[in-house]
Amino acid sequence: VSDWRLARAVSLTGQLGVVSGTAIESVMVRRLQLGDPGGHTRRAMSRYPVPEVADKILDRYFIEGGKPPGERFRQTPIGSAQPSKNLSDLLVAASFVEVHLASEGHPGLVGINFMEKIQTPMLASIYGAMLAGVDYVLVGAGIPRALPGVLNRLADGLPVEMKLDVRGASAEDIHLSRFDPTEAVGGPAPALKRPIFLAIISSHILASMLATKIEVPVDGFVVEAPTAGGHNAPPRGRPNLSDTGEPVYGERDEPDLEAIRDLGLPFWLAGGFVRSDQVREAVRLGATGVQIGTPFAYCEESGFDADLKGLVIEMSRQGGARVFTDPVASPSGFPFKVVELEGTLSDPEVYANRERGRCELGYLRTAYQRDDGQLGWRCPAEPVEDYVRKGGDTGDTVGRKCLCNALMANVGLGQVKECGSSEKMLITSGDMLEDVAGFLPTGETSYAARDVVDQLLPGS
Ligand SMILES: Cc1cc2nc3c(=O)[nH]c(=O)nc-3n(C[C@H](O)[C@H](O)[C@H](O)COP(=O)(O)O)c2cc1C
Repeated sequence: VSDWRLARAVSLTGQLGVVSGTAIESVMVRRLQLGDPGGHTRRAMSRYPVPEVADKILDRYFIEGGKPPGERFRQTPIGSAQPSKNLSDLLVAASFVEVHLASEGHPGLVGINFMEKIQTPMLASIYGAMLAGVDYVLVGAGIPRALPGVLNRLADGLPVEMKLDVRGASAEDIHLSRFDPTEAVGGPAPALKRPIFLAIISSHILASMLATKIEVPVDGFVVEAPTAGGHNAPPRGRPNLSDTGEPVYGERDEPDLEAIRDLGLPFWLAGGFVRSDQVREAVRLGATGVQIGTPFAYCEESGFDADLKGLVIEMSRQGGARVFTDPVASPSGFPFKVVELEGTLSDPEVYANRERGRCELGYLRTAYQRDDGQLGWRCPAEPVEDYVRKGGDTGDTVGRKCLCNALMANVGLGQVKECGSSEKMLITSGDMLEDVAGFLPTGETSYAARDVVDQLLPGS
C-alpha cells in the first residue's frame, strides 16, 4: 500500500515518505510478471550497482506485456535462516528499486519500514535500501535490538548478523542470519550513508530499553496507539476480549509520554490522526510529529486498488465504514485491524470457502527448533495437518488468515490458486476509517496525499 508512488507523493510535500519493505521482493517480481507497466522497475534496475544481478532478475521474471491473467505468478524462493544468493540478490535489489523510485529526481526524505518479526529477509533488505540512499529505517512488531548496530556496520561495508527468534531453542542454541555486503555487490562494499533508525513501539518500557540498554541505541521512536491501522501491540496482562471479540486496552497500555520525552530522543505519535488540532496536541506533548497510515491508504497515490478505495471512501461518507480488531487473524499473533467488507476474507463465508494451501510466501512463519537441532518453519494459517505435524497446536490455527496472500491481493498482485480462483483480499485500516471521506475536496470523489498533508498541517 505504501509503495514508491505514495512515499514519493508524501516526500514531495516536504514530509517523510515511507515505503513498506515487507514482502518487497515478491512485490517486485510480480510487477515484473505483469509487464512492469510504465517501465519503472526496469528504469530503477538500470541504476542498480550490480548490472549482472539486475539482468539476471529481469531475465528470470520480466514478462513483456504481462502474464495471462489466469496464469499463476512465478514464486520467489521461500526464505530460511540463511537466504540463498538468489533470494538475497532479490531482496537487496527489490528494496533498492522501491527506495530509488520513491526518491528519484527530488531531494525529499524517504524511509523504509519492516516488521522485526519477519527476520530472515531483514539484513539484505535493509542493505538494498541503503544502497539507494534511504534516509530512515523504521522497524516495529518486535524488539529491534540488533538493528541500530547493523546499520552502523552496513554503512561501513562490513558483514552483519542477527540472532533469530526460534521457538523451543535453549539459550545455548543460537541461530543466526548473516549478510555480507561484499557478496551482494561482488567486490569491496562502498561506504554508505547511515540512515536514522526509529523503533515503532507502544510502551515506554520498551522505549527506555532501546534507548539505554543496548550497545548502539535507537535514534528515535514511533509510538503507535492501538487505534492504528495494520498490526497492533497486544494489550498488556491477561488477554481480555470485549463483547464484540476485540482485545480490550486499558490504562496500562497507554505509553507514558513524559517518560519517553525524558529519554531525549525524537518521537512521532501514530494512530488516529485526522485533524490538525490533534497534530498540534501531539507536538505540545513533545512529539516531533505524527505518523499517518489510514488517511494515506485511501488517497489516489496509494497501492490499494482504485475501485476498493472508491468503495471505502463512499462507505465512510455514508457512515458505514467499520473496522474490527481481530485478535487471531494474523499468523504473527499480533492483533490485526480488519475492514469489514463483503467479498474479502473479513466475510465469514469467504473465509470458510478458502481452502488452506501449502505455504508459498512464508513471511509470517515462525521458526522452531526440530528434534534434530535444525530449524523448521510453521504457520498457523497453513493446512492444519501440516501445522500439527510440525509440532504446532491445533488451537493456534483457529481463525487464522493467510495474510501474506491476502495482502498481496490487496495491491493487485494476488496469486492465482491451483484451482484457478484468485486469492481474496483482507483490508486493514485504523479505527478512524470512518473519517477518510473528510479528506475529499468539495465535489470530488477522490483525494490526493497532498490533501491529507494540507488538512493535518494547514499552511505547510
Ligand atoms: C493499509 C495499511 C498498511 C500498513 N502497513 C504497514 C507496514 O507495512 N508496516 C508498518 O510498520 N506499519 C504499517 N501500517 C501502520 C502505519 O504505519 C501507521 O502506524 C498507522 O496506520 C497509523 O495509524 P492510522 O492508521 O490511524 O493513521 C499500515 C497501516 C495501514 C492502514
